[in-house]
Amino acid sequence: MNIKSVCCIGAGYVGGPTMAIIAKYCPDIQVNVVDINPERISQWNERDLSDLPVYEPGLKEIVEKCRGKNLNFSTNMEKYIAEADLIFISVNTPTKTRGIGSGQAIDLKYVEASSREISNYARGHTIVVEKSTLPVKTAQTIKAILDAAVKGEKNLEKKKTFSVLSNPEFLAEGTAINDLENPDRVLIGGDDKEAINDLVNIYSRWIEKEKVLTTDLWSSELSKLISNAFLAQRISSINTISALCEATGAKIKDVSLAVGMDRRIGKYFLNSGPGFGGSCFKKDISNLVYISNHYGLFEVAEYWQKVLDINYWQQRRFVELIVKTMFGTISSKTIAILGFSFKANTNDTRESPAIYICRKLIEEGAFLKIYDPKVKYSQMQKDLLFNDQRIGEEKWVYSNSIYETFENVDSAVFLTEWEEFESLNWQEISIKMRQPSWVFDTRSIVNMEEVKKSGINIWQVGYGN
Ligand code: NAD
Ligand code: UGA
Repeated sequence: MNIKSVCCIGAGYVGGPTMAIIAKYCPDIQVNVVDINPERISQWNERDLSDLPVYEPGLKEIVEKCRGKNLNFSTNMEKYIAEADLIFISVNTPTKTRGIGSGQAIDLKYVEASSREISNYARGHTIVVEKSTLPVKTAQTIKAILDAAVKGEKNLEKKKTFSVLSNPEFLAEGTAINDLENPDRVLIGGDDKEAINDLVNIYSRWIEKEKVLTTDLWSSELSKLISNAFLAQRISSINTISALCEATGAKIKDVSLAVGMDRRIGKYFLNSGPGFGGSCFKKDISNLVYISNHYGLFEVAEYWQKVLDINYWQQRRFVELIVKTMFGTISSKTIAILGFSFKANTNDTRESPAIYICRKLIEEGAFLKIYDPKVKYSQMQKDLLFNDQRIGEEKWVYSNSIYETFENVDSAVFLTEWEEFESLNWQEISIKMRQPSWVFDTRSIVNMEEVKKSGINIWQVGYGN
């Protein structure tokens, strides 16, 4: 098929950037991104490109170039699904919060709703591509919903046909544009060769064909979950070693370097920190645990559960360490929080370690001054809900200016590895902070020597005091 029109259901962190890249490299293809959330769509259509709903380095330049030409954001699902030759399902797949599998299984309601929208509005032959991360065998559910629409139609002229493919996304937030332009691989699962070929032809506009791997549907779906599980496992592994380094005097960065120089191990994903955050690792590993239990593979489930347990443990131990170091109580003390997003170069706070750590510090009685270069005040307000009650300004305050954040605080806790935190003027900061003052650096990014020289006490992950 000659693909002329692509639709993406879901204008989020994956749908937005991925479609922007397709639009950039395929000027002959009309790319329509649709969403049920009108606010999100109007943000994508914002004239001021610094107000796009997703912050990614390099994204706004592409949106500026393609929007209004072959890249379009809309709430009109009926129109753009009907026009599409190929549809990406890129909706959110959160963990279930109630019912069977609550807390572990993936809630497929948005995927199911998208499939129904496609079955209602599609015309002729449509290729349906799973872009969301899904439990293995979800394509079966999507096919069943689409097939029901095919069976119900008696008028042959209106008969619809579908091919379902799996094409998981491996981009990481903060580096999404580079990851999409230069991926390690593109994975396509399916059994309809012609449909696979059509999708390969899109990617091959900018990616070498050798990087495109084709498999069956189930291998593709499972490979995505396992890639995330392996990445998260490395973080939990290095985080256990950070505690061992602090206890023994070994230096975590030297250990990471020495271990990672072995090509069989590799150097990436060996930075210890406050545990992994982000919308995916926790939900995908929880789902892996759920699936393993479902198939009676209890040892497999227990093994992966440990990766999650270590992640919680690392965050708990940081809170305990902060309280213990600050003379056993932080009640009525003021703490600066540096960084609220789950990693640098994104405004995303989903599952950010900062949320858990800030809540715990507040519970212990501290007052927080929170600074992040990209996270907005309204987002922090949403994240810092206690039993659905907003924590009032009497518990925390939003800071606009990095240096002002240190004014009259007893300690400063670094939670995100923003580049600007690496070269702070510690002499200037030491005058602003109350004495005695502490820095807790959970990312080992600040200059330890400079902090010490300024007279501030410092603790760094994987180094200790
Ligand atoms: P997101 O929450 O940012 O975006 C999902 C969008 O889908 C939302 O805007 C929502 O309104 C929309 N939506 C939900 N149901 C809809 C429906 N029925 N019709 C139309 N729109 C609908 O999510 P995301 O971060 O983009 O993640 C999407 C999927 O991609 C998830 O499965 C995730 O696991 C996977 N993934 C995410 C990343 C990442 O870095 N965020 C990377 C790789 C894969
Ligand atoms: C991750 C994967 O890297 C992507 O390949 C995948 O597509 C995506 O999940 C997904 O499926 O959603 P992302 O969560 O955006 O991407 O970001 P990562 O760079 O993987 O970071 C995840 C968390 O791990 C962050 O909190 C980060 O600070 C932490 N991390 C990462 C470390 O603590 N140490 C490291 O060495 C690397």
